[in-house]
Amino acid sequence: MNGHDTELMESVLVDSGFQQIDSETAADIVILNTCSVREQAERKAIGRLHSLARRKKIEKNFSLGVTGCMAQNLGRELFRLIPDLDFAISPGCIHAIGKVLRRLENGEKQIFLSNGDTETSDDFCRRKITRASAFVTIANGCNMNCSYCIVPKTRGRETCRPMESIVREVQFLAERGVKEVTLGGQIVNFYGIRKIPFENGKSPFVQLLERVHAINGLERIRFLSPHPSGFRDDLIGCYANLPKLCPHVHFPIQSGSDRILRSMRRPYTRQTALEVLHKLRQNLPEMAISTDLIVGFPGEMEEDFRQTEQLFDKIDFDMAFIFKYSPRAGTPAAAMGNQVSQDVCEERHQILLKKLAITSIRRNRLFLNSHQPVLVEEPSTRDHHILWGYTPHHKKVFFLGPKELIGKIVDVKISHASTCALNGILEDDKG
Ligand code: 5AD
Ligand code: SF4
Repeated sequence: MNGHDTELMESVLVDSGFQQIDSETAADIVILNTCSVREQAERKAIGRLHSLARRKKIEKNFSLGVTGCMAQNLGRELFRLIPDLDFAISPGCIHAIGKVLRRLENGEKQIFLSNGDTETSDDFCRRKITRASAFVTIANGCNMNCSYCIVPKTRGRETCRPMESIVREVQFLAERGVKEVTLGGQIVNFYGIRKIPFENGKSPFVQLLERVHAINGLERIRFLSPHPSGFRDDLIGCYANLPKLCPHVHFPIQSGSDRILRSMRRPYTRQTALEVLHKLRQNLPEMAISTDLIVGFPGEMEEDFRQTEQLFDKIDFDMAFIFKYSPRAGTPAAAMGNQVSQDVCEERHQILLKKLAITSIRRNRLFLNSHQPVLVEEPSTRDHHILWGYTPHHKKVFFLGPKELIGKIVDVKISHASTCALNGILEDDKG
Protein backbone atom coordinates (compact mmCIF):
# COMPACT_ATOMS: atom_id res chain seq x y z
CA MET A 1 0.00 0.00 0.00
CA ASN A 2 2.81 2.42 0.86
CA GLY A 3 4.63 1.80 -2.41
CA HIS A 4 1.41 2.49 -4.25
CA ASP A 5 0.69 5.64 -2.20
CA THR A 6 4.15 6.87 -3.17
CA GLU A 7 3.29 6.38 -6.85
CA LEU A 8 0.03 8.29 -6.40
CA MET A 9 1.82 11.20 -4.76
CA GLU A 10 4.38 11.23 -7.58
CA SER A 11 1.51 11.58 -10.06
CA VAL A 12 -0.07 14.46 -8.15
CA LEU A 13 3.23 16.27 -7.72
CA VAL A 14 4.26 15.95 -11.36
CA ASP A 15 0.80 17.24 -12.36
CA SER A 16 1.26 20.19 -10.00
CA GLY A 17 4.49 21.16 -11.76
CA PHE A 18 7.06 19.54 -9.48
CA GLN A 19 9.89 17.48 -10.90
CA GLN A 20 11.08 14.17 -9.52
CA ILE A 21 14.84 13.68 -9.33
CA ASP A 22 17.02 10.71 -8.37
CA SER A 23 19.38 12.46 -6.00
CA GLU A 24 18.21 13.06 -2.45
CA THR A 25 20.99 15.58 -1.81
CA ALA A 26 20.03 17.67 -4.85
CA ALA A 27 16.30 17.70 -4.04
CA ASP A 28 14.66 20.89 -2.69
CA ILE A 29 11.94 18.84 -1.04
CA VAL A 30 12.28 15.41 0.55
CA ILE A 31 9.18 13.47 1.57
CA LEU A 32 9.40 10.31 3.66
CA ASN A 33 6.41 8.02 3.16
CA THR A 34 6.29 6.01 6.37
CA CYS A 35 5.02 2.76 7.90
CA SER A 36 4.02 2.25 11.54
CA VAL A 37 3.29 -1.49 11.57
CA ARG A 38 6.40 -2.27 13.61
CA GLU A 39 8.28 0.03 15.95
CA GLN A 40 11.55 -0.52 14.12
CA ALA A 41 10.17 1.09 10.95
CA GLU A 42 9.15 4.20 12.90
CA ARG A 43 12.50 4.36 14.68
CA LYS A 44 14.34 4.19 11.36
CA ALA A 45 12.18 6.94 9.88
CA ILE A 46 12.77 9.23 12.88
CA GLY A 47 16.53 8.62 12.53
CA ARG A 48 16.41 9.54 8.84
CA LEU A 49 14.33 12.64 9.57
CA HIS A 50 16.83 13.84 12.19
CA SER A 51 19.68 13.56 9.73
CA LEU A 52 17.69 15.19 6.90
CA ALA A 53 16.61 18.01 9.21
CA ARG A 54 20.27 19.05 9.57
CA ARG A 55 20.10 20.35 5.99
CA LYS A 56 17.53 22.90 7.11
CA LYS A 57 20.20 24.65 9.19
CA ILE A 58 22.27 25.38 6.06
CA GLU A 59 19.74 25.42 3.21
CA LYS A 60 16.95 27.81 4.02
CA ASN A 61 14.78 26.66 1.07
CA PHE A 62 14.98 22.97 1.82
CA SER A 63 11.62 21.41 2.82
CA LEU A 64 11.06 18.19 4.69
CA GLY A 65 7.83 16.25 5.07
CA VAL A 66 6.38 13.02 6.39
CA THR A 67 3.45 11.20 4.82
CA GLY A 68 1.75 7.90 5.65
CA CYS A 69 0.94 6.00 8.80
CA MET A 70 3.48 7.64 11.09
CA ALA A 71 1.84 11.03 10.48
CA GLN A 72 -1.48 9.67 11.75
CA ASN A 73 0.04 7.61 14.55
CA LEU A 74 2.24 10.34 16.03
CA GLY A 75 0.30 13.40 14.83
CA ARG A 76 1.62 16.79 15.95
CA GLU A 77 4.03 15.01 18.28
CA LEU A 78 6.18 14.67 15.14
CA PHE A 79 6.82 18.44 15.15
CA ARG A 80 8.01 18.20 18.74
CA LEU A 81 10.36 15.32 17.84
CA ILE A 82 11.60 17.02 14.64
CA PRO A 83 11.09 20.80 15.08
CA ASP A 84 12.36 21.47 11.54
CA LEU A 85 9.73 19.24 9.95
CA ASP A 86 7.59 21.27 7.53
CA PHE A 87 4.57 19.03 7.09
CA ALA A 88 2.99 15.72 8.04
CA ILE A 89 0.16 14.17 6.01
CA SER A 90 -1.85 11.11 7.12
CA PRO A 91 -2.59 8.33 4.61
CA GLY A 92 -6.18 9.47 3.98
CA CYS A 93 -5.04 12.92 2.81
CA ILE A 94 -2.03 12.22 0.60
CA HIS A 95 -3.91 13.34 -2.53
CA ALA A 96 -3.64 16.87 -1.07
CA ILE A 97 0.17 16.80 -1.21
CA GLY A 98 0.37 19.36 -4.05
CA LYS A 99 -1.82 21.83 -2.13
CA VAL A 100 0.24 21.36 1.03
CA LEU A 101 3.43 22.19 -0.86
CA ARG A 102 1.81 25.38 -2.22
CA ARG A 103 0.77 26.38 1.33
CA LEU A 104 4.38 25.84 2.34
CA GLU A 105 5.56 28.13 -0.46
CA ASN A 106 3.18 30.75 0.91
CA GLY A 107 5.01 30.70 4.20
CA GLU A 108 2.85 28.37 6.31
CA LYS A 109 4.75 26.25 8.79
CA GLN A 110 4.27 22.82 10.39
CA ILE A 111 1.25 21.87 8.31
CA PHE A 112 -0.57 18.77 9.57
CA LEU A 113 -3.38 16.89 7.82
CA SER A 114 -5.08 14.17 9.83
CA ASN A 115 -7.32 11.49 8.26
CA GLY A 116 -10.69 13.08 7.47
CA ASP A 117 -9.29 16.62 7.11
CA THR A 118 -9.73 16.52 3.34
CA GLU A 119 -12.31 15.00 1.03
CA THR A 120 -11.18 11.99 -0.94
CA SER A 121 -12.10 11.04 -4.46
CA ASP A 122 -13.06 7.57 -5.64
CA ASP A 123 -11.22 8.24 -8.85
CA PHE A 124 -7.99 9.24 -7.23
CA CYS A 125 -5.56 7.16 -9.23
CA ARG A 126 -2.26 7.38 -11.04
CA ARG A 127 -1.81 8.94 -14.41
CA LYS A 128 1.81 7.91 -14.79
CA ILE A 129 2.25 4.28 -15.79
CA THR A 130 5.66 3.06 -14.76
CA ARG A 131 5.56 -0.67 -15.41
CA ALA A 132 3.59 -3.48 -16.99
CA SER A 133 2.33 -4.48 -13.56
CA ALA A 134 0.18 -2.03 -11.60
CA PHE A 135 -1.29 -1.93 -8.12
CA VAL A 136 -4.91 -0.77 -8.01
CA THR A 137 -6.45 0.22 -4.69
CA ILE A 138 -9.90 -1.26 -4.15
CA ALA A 139 -10.33 -0.53 -0.44
CA ASN A 140 -8.59 1.45 2.24
CA GLY A 141 -8.50 1.13 6.02
CA CYS A 142 -9.56 -1.84 8.11
CA ASN A 143 -12.46 -2.75 10.43
CA MET A 144 -10.90 -5.89 11.86
CA ASN A 145 -9.08 -4.64 14.96
CA CYS A 146 -6.59 -7.49 15.33
CA SER A 147 -5.24 -6.94 18.84
CA TYR A 148 -1.62 -6.32 17.75
CA CYS A 149 -2.24 -4.04 14.79
CA ILE A 150 -1.89 -0.27 14.46
CA VAL A 151 -3.42 -0.08 10.95
CA PRO A 152 -7.05 0.58 12.03
CA LYS A 153 -5.70 3.61 13.90
CA THR A 154 -3.47 4.88 11.10
CA ARG A 155 -5.63 4.14 8.07
CA GLY A 156 -9.02 4.36 9.75
CA ARG A 157 -12.27 2.48 9.09
CA GLU A 158 -12.57 0.63 5.84
CA THR A 159 -13.82 2.49 2.80
CA CYS A 160 -14.22 0.71 -0.52
CA ARG A 161 -14.04 2.19 -3.97
CA PRO A 162 -17.11 1.75 -6.20
CA MET A 163 -16.70 -1.21 -8.55
CA GLU A 164 -17.24 0.99 -11.64
CA SER A 165 -14.37 3.25 -10.67
CA ILE A 166 -12.00 0.29 -10.17
CA VAL A 167 -13.02 -1.32 -13.47
CA ARG A 168 -12.51 2.02 -15.24
CA GLU A 169 -9.00 2.32 -13.81
CA VAL A 170 -8.04 -1.22 -14.84
CA GLN A 171 -9.44 -0.58 -18.34
CA PHE A 172 -7.40 2.62 -18.57
CA LEU A 173 -4.27 0.71 -17.54
CA ALA A 174 -4.87 -2.23 -19.90
CA GLU A 175 -5.40 0.13 -22.85
CA ARG A 176 -1.96 1.56 -22.13
CA GLY A 177 -0.14 -1.76 -22.09
CA VAL A 178 -0.44 -2.84 -18.45
CA LYS A 179 -0.58 -6.64 -18.43
CA GLU A 180 -0.96 -7.37 -14.73
CA VAL A 181 -2.91 -5.75 -11.93
CA THR A 182 -2.78 -6.38 -8.21
CA LEU A 183 -6.06 -5.45 -6.55
CA GLY A 184 -5.00 -4.03 -3.22
CA GLY A 185 -6.25 -3.06 0.19
CA GLN A 186 -5.85 -4.09 3.84
CA ILE A 187 -8.41 -6.86 3.38
CA VAL A 188 -9.49 -7.31 -0.21
CA ASN A 189 -11.70 -10.37 -0.04
CA PHE A 190 -14.24 -8.59 2.19
CA TYR A 191 -14.51 -5.88 -0.48
CA GLY A 192 -17.98 -4.29 -0.51
CA ILE A 193 -19.38 -6.93 1.83
CA ARG A 194 -21.77 -4.55 3.58
CA LYS A 195 -22.63 -2.41 0.54
CA ILE A 196 -22.92 -4.63 -2.52
CA PRO A 197 -25.37 -7.58 -2.55
CA PHE A 198 -24.24 -11.13 -3.32
CA GLU A 199 -25.16 -12.26 -6.86
CA ASN A 200 -25.78 -15.97 -7.53
CA GLY A 201 -23.89 -16.79 -4.34
CA LYS A 202 -20.92 -14.66 -5.45
CA SER A 203 -19.43 -12.15 -3.04
CA PRO A 204 -18.81 -8.56 -4.21
CA PHE A 205 -15.07 -9.38 -4.42
CA VAL A 206 -15.69 -12.34 -6.73
CA GLN A 207 -17.97 -10.13 -8.84
CA LEU A 208 -15.15 -7.60 -9.06
CA LEU A 209 -12.65 -10.30 -10.06
CA GLU A 210 -14.98 -11.41 -12.85
CA ARG A 211 -15.44 -7.84 -14.11
CA VAL A 212 -11.69 -7.24 -14.13
CA HIS A 213 -11.08 -10.62 -15.74
CA ALA A 214 -13.25 -9.60 -18.71
CA ILE A 215 -11.02 -6.63 -19.57
CA ASN A 216 -9.22 -7.10 -22.89
CA GLY A 217 -5.46 -6.85 -22.94
CA LEU A 218 -5.10 -7.64 -19.26
CA GLU A 219 -3.33 -10.97 -18.78
CA ARG A 220 -2.78 -11.44 -15.06
CA ILE A 221 -4.72 -10.65 -11.91
CA ARG A 222 -3.40 -10.82 -8.35
CA PHE A 223 -4.77 -9.52 -5.06
CA LEU A 224 -3.19 -8.44 -1.77
CA SER A 225 -3.94 -8.94 1.10
CA PRO A 226 -6.86 -11.24 1.67
CA HIS A 227 -8.07 -12.36 5.10
CA PRO A 228 -8.04 -16.12 5.80
CA SER A 229 -11.70 -15.90 6.93
CA GLY A 230 -12.81 -14.58 3.55
CA PHE A 231 -12.04 -17.64 1.40
CA ARG A 232 -15.45 -19.10 0.63
CA ASP A 233 -16.02 -21.60 -2.17
CA ASP A 234 -16.97 -18.84 -4.64
CA LEU A 235 -13.48 -17.32 -4.28
CA ILE A 236 -11.67 -20.66 -4.24
CA GLY A 237 -13.56 -21.57 -7.43
CA CYS A 238 -12.14 -18.49 -9.19
CA TYR A 239 -8.75 -20.21 -9.41
CA ALA A 240 -10.34 -22.79 -11.68
CA ASN A 241 -12.76 -20.47 -13.52
CA LEU A 242 -10.66 -17.38 -14.14
CA PRO A 243 -7.48 -18.25 -16.07
CA LYS A 244 -6.01 -14.76 -15.62
CA LEU A 245 -6.06 -15.17 -11.83
CA CYS A 246 -2.47 -16.07 -10.91
CA PRO A 247 -1.86 -19.37 -9.05
CA HIS A 248 -0.40 -17.66 -5.99
CA VAL A 249 -2.17 -16.70 -2.83
CA HIS A 250 -0.91 -14.65 0.09
CA PHE A 251 -2.57 -16.13 3.16
CA PRO A 252 -1.58 -14.21 6.33
CA ILE A 253 -2.12 -16.90 8.93
CA GLN A 254 -0.18 -15.13 11.77
CA SER A 255 -0.02 -18.15 14.13
CA GLY A 256 -0.64 -21.88 14.22
CA SER A 257 -2.07 -21.84 17.74
CA ASP A 258 -5.81 -21.43 18.29
CA ARG A 259 -5.20 -19.91 21.70
CA ILE A 260 -2.96 -17.21 20.18
CA LEU A 261 -5.26 -16.64 17.19
CA ARG A 262 -8.12 -15.97 19.66
CA SER A 263 -5.96 -13.58 21.61
CA MET A 264 -4.93 -11.88 18.36
CA ARG A 265 -8.68 -11.57 17.55
CA ARG A 266 -8.24 -13.45 14.31
CA PRO A 267 -11.67 -15.00 13.66
CA TYR A 268 -10.54 -18.40 12.30
CA THR A 269 -8.93 -21.49 13.71
CA ARG A 270 -5.90 -23.48 12.68
CA GLN A 271 -8.27 -26.15 11.38
CA THR A 272 -10.48 -23.86 9.26
CA ALA A 273 -7.39 -22.17 7.80
CA LEU A 274 -5.86 -25.56 6.95
CA GLU A 275 -9.12 -26.60 5.28
CA VAL A 276 -9.04 -23.52 3.03
CA LEU A 277 -5.41 -24.15 2.07
CA HIS A 278 -6.19 -27.79 1.41
CA LYS A 279 -9.07 -26.82 -0.89
CA LEU A 280 -6.89 -24.28 -2.71
CA ARG A 281 -4.20 -26.87 -3.40
CA GLN A 282 -6.80 -29.51 -4.24
CA ASN A 283 -8.17 -27.11 -6.85
CA LEU A 284 -4.72 -26.26 -8.16
CA PRO A 285 -1.99 -28.60 -6.88
CA GLU A 286 0.93 -26.33 -7.77
CA MET A 287 -0.64 -23.26 -6.10
CA ALA A 288 2.07 -21.10 -4.52
CA ILE A 289 1.25 -20.01 -0.98
CA SER A 290 2.91 -17.26 1.02
CA THR A 291 2.07 -16.06 4.51
CA ASP A 292 2.69 -13.60 7.33
CA LEU A 293 3.55 -14.96 10.77
CA ILE A 294 4.18 -13.22 14.07
CA VAL A 295 6.40 -14.87 16.67
CA GLY A 296 6.50 -13.87 20.34
CA PHE A 297 2.94 -12.55 20.58
CA PRO A 298 2.11 -11.90 24.28
CA GLY A 299 1.46 -15.19 26.06
CA GLU A 300 2.93 -17.36 23.27
CA MET A 301 4.12 -20.46 25.15
CA GLU A 302 6.44 -23.19 23.89
CA GLU A 303 3.39 -25.27 23.02
CA ASP A 304 1.83 -22.43 20.96
CA PHE A 305 5.04 -21.95 19.03
CA ARG A 306 5.27 -25.69 18.46
CA GLN A 307 1.82 -25.50 16.84
CA THR A 308 3.09 -22.77 14.52
CA GLU A 309 6.16 -24.86 13.67
CA GLN A 310 3.97 -27.86 12.88
CA LEU A 311 1.69 -25.78 10.69
CA PHE A 312 4.73 -24.41 8.91
CA ASP A 313 5.96 -27.95 8.20
CA LYS A 314 2.53 -29.02 7.04
CA ILE A 315 1.87 -26.26 4.50
CA ASP A 316 5.22 -26.05 2.74
CA PHE A 317 5.02 -22.30 2.21
CA ASP A 318 6.67 -20.86 -0.89
CA MET A 319 7.41 -17.69 1.03
CA ALA A 320 6.76 -16.36 4.51
CA PHE A 321 7.19 -12.94 6.06
CA ILE A 322 8.09 -13.77 9.65
CA PHE A 323 7.89 -10.92 12.13
CA LYS A 324 8.96 -10.60 15.74
CA TYR A 325 6.00 -9.18 17.65
CA SER A 326 6.37 -5.43 18.13
CA PRO A 327 4.17 -3.80 20.79
CA ARG A 328 2.30 -0.81 19.33
CA ALA A 329 1.10 1.80 21.82
CA GLY A 330 -2.69 1.95 22.02
CA THR A 331 -3.31 -1.59 20.70
CA PRO A 332 -4.89 -4.13 23.09
CA ALA A 333 -1.94 -6.55 22.79
CA ALA A 334 0.54 -3.93 23.99
CA ALA A 335 -1.31 -3.85 27.34
CA MET A 336 -1.43 -7.66 27.73
CA GLY A 337 0.59 -9.41 30.40
CA ASN A 338 3.06 -12.19 29.57
CA GLN A 339 5.06 -10.24 27.00
CA VAL A 340 7.63 -12.61 25.49
CA SER A 341 11.30 -11.72 26.00
CA GLN A 342 13.40 -10.42 23.11
CA ASP A 343 15.69 -13.46 23.37
CA VAL A 344 12.80 -15.90 22.98
CA CYS A 345 11.35 -13.86 20.07
CA GLU A 346 14.73 -13.92 18.37
CA GLU A 347 15.15 -17.66 18.91
CA ARG A 348 11.68 -18.44 17.46
CA HIS A 349 12.30 -16.06 14.57
CA GLN A 350 15.52 -17.88 13.68
CA ILE A 351 13.85 -21.31 13.89
CA LEU A 352 11.16 -20.31 11.38
CA LEU A 353 13.64 -18.54 9.09
CA LYS A 354 15.70 -21.74 8.93
CA LYS A 355 12.60 -23.76 8.08
CA LEU A 356 11.66 -21.23 5.41
CA ALA A 357 15.09 -21.50 3.76
CA ILE A 358 14.47 -25.24 3.34
CA THR A 359 10.85 -25.12 2.16
CA SER A 360 11.30 -22.17 -0.20
CA ILE A 361 14.18 -23.78 -2.06
CA ARG A 362 12.27 -27.06 -2.24
CA ARG A 363 9.26 -25.26 -3.71
CA ASN A 364 11.44 -23.28 -6.12
CA ARG A 365 13.21 -26.42 -7.34
CA LEU A 366 9.85 -27.76 -8.56
CA PHE A 367 10.20 -25.30 -11.44
CA LEU A 368 13.63 -26.51 -12.59
CA ASN A 369 13.72 -27.26 -16.34
CA SER A 370 10.17 -25.98 -16.84
CA HIS A 371 9.24 -23.17 -19.23
CA GLN A 372 7.76 -20.16 -17.47
CA PRO A 373 5.98 -17.10 -18.86
CA VAL A 374 7.82 -14.18 -17.23
CA LEU A 375 6.41 -10.67 -17.16
CA VAL A 376 9.59 -8.62 -17.52
CA GLU A 377 9.91 -5.82 -14.95
CA GLU A 378 13.35 -4.20 -15.20
CA PRO A 379 17.12 -4.74 -15.47
CA SER A 380 18.89 -6.12 -12.42
CA THR A 381 20.63 -3.44 -10.35
CA ARG A 382 23.82 -5.52 -10.31
CA ASP A 383 24.11 -6.16 -14.04
CA HIS A 384 22.11 -4.24 -16.64
CA HIS A 385 22.29 -7.07 -19.16
CA ILE A 386 20.24 -9.21 -16.78
CA LEU A 387 16.50 -8.68 -16.62
CA TRP A 388 14.04 -9.84 -13.98
CA GLY A 389 10.34 -10.47 -13.83
CA TYR A 390 7.71 -12.66 -12.22
CA THR A 391 6.16 -15.97 -13.19
CA PRO A 392 2.41 -16.51 -12.59
CA HIS A 393 3.36 -18.25 -9.29
CA HIS A 394 5.09 -15.02 -8.23
CA LYS A 395 8.57 -16.46 -8.55
CA LYS A 396 11.21 -13.87 -9.36
CA VAL A 397 13.28 -14.95 -12.37
CA PHE A 398 16.60 -13.49 -13.56
CA PHE A 399 17.75 -14.05 -17.14
CA LEU A 400 19.97 -12.52 -19.80
CA GLY A 401 18.02 -10.44 -22.33
CA PRO A 402 17.67 -7.09 -24.13
CA LYS A 403 15.85 -4.31 -22.29
CA GLU A 404 13.31 -4.03 -25.16
CA LEU A 405 11.62 -6.99 -23.49
CA ILE A 406 10.59 -4.92 -20.47
CA GLY A 407 6.80 -4.97 -20.17
CA LYS A 408 6.43 -8.13 -22.26
CA ILE A 409 5.69 -11.70 -21.25
CA VAL A 410 8.50 -13.97 -22.45
CA ASP A 411 9.24 -17.68 -22.27
CA VAL A 412 12.11 -18.52 -19.92
CA LYS A 413 13.48 -22.00 -19.26
CA ILE A 414 14.38 -22.34 -15.59
CA SER A 415 17.95 -23.50 -15.04
CA HIS A 416 18.68 -22.70 -11.37
CA ALA A 417 16.69 -22.28 -8.15
CA SER A 418 17.72 -20.56 -4.91
CA THR A 419 15.71 -19.72 -1.79
CA CYS A 420 14.24 -16.47 -3.08
CA ALA A 421 14.63 -16.50 -6.87
CA LEU A 422 15.03 -18.54 -10.04
CA ASN A 423 17.47 -18.12 -12.91
CA GLY A 424 16.71 -19.07 -16.47
CA ILE A 425 17.45 -18.87 -20.17
CA LEU A 426 15.36 -16.82 -22.55
CA GLU A 427 13.70 -19.18 -25.02
CA ASP A 428 11.85 -16.78 -27.25
CA ASP A 429 12.40 -13.06 -27.49
CA LYS A 430 9.45 -12.21 -29.67
CA GLY A 431 7.34 -11.11 -26.70
N1 5AD B 1 4.16 -6.76 15.39
C1 5AD B 1 4.70 -7.60 14.47
N2 5AD B 1 4.15 -7.80 13.26
C2 5AD B 1 3.01 -7.15 12.97
N3 5AD B 1 2.22 -7.14 11.89
C3 5AD B 1 1.18 -6.30 12.09
N4 5AD B 1 1.28 -5.75 13.30
C4 5AD B 1 2.41 -6.26 13.88
C5 5AD B 1 3.03 -6.08 15.14
N5 5AD B 1 2.52 -5.27 16.06
C6 5AD B 1 2.48 -7.99 10.72
C7 5AD B 1 1.33 -8.95 10.45
C8 5AD B 1 0.70 -8.39 9.21
C9 5AD B 1 1.90 -7.76 8.52
C10 5AD B 1 1.58 -6.73 7.50
O1 5AD B 1 2.61 -7.15 9.58
O2 5AD B 1 1.89 -10.24 10.20
O3 5AD B 1 0.09 -9.38 8.40
FE1 SF4 C 1 -4.20 -5.12 10.79
FE2 SF4 C 1 -5.77 -7.25 11.20
FE3 SF4 C 1 -6.63 -5.23 9.65
FE4 SF4 C 1 -4.67 -6.83 8.75
S1 SF4 C 1 -6.78 -7.47 9.24
S2 SF4 C 1 -4.71 -4.55 8.69
S3 SF4 C 1 -3.55 -7.30 10.63
S4 SF4 C 1 -6.21 -5.11 11.86
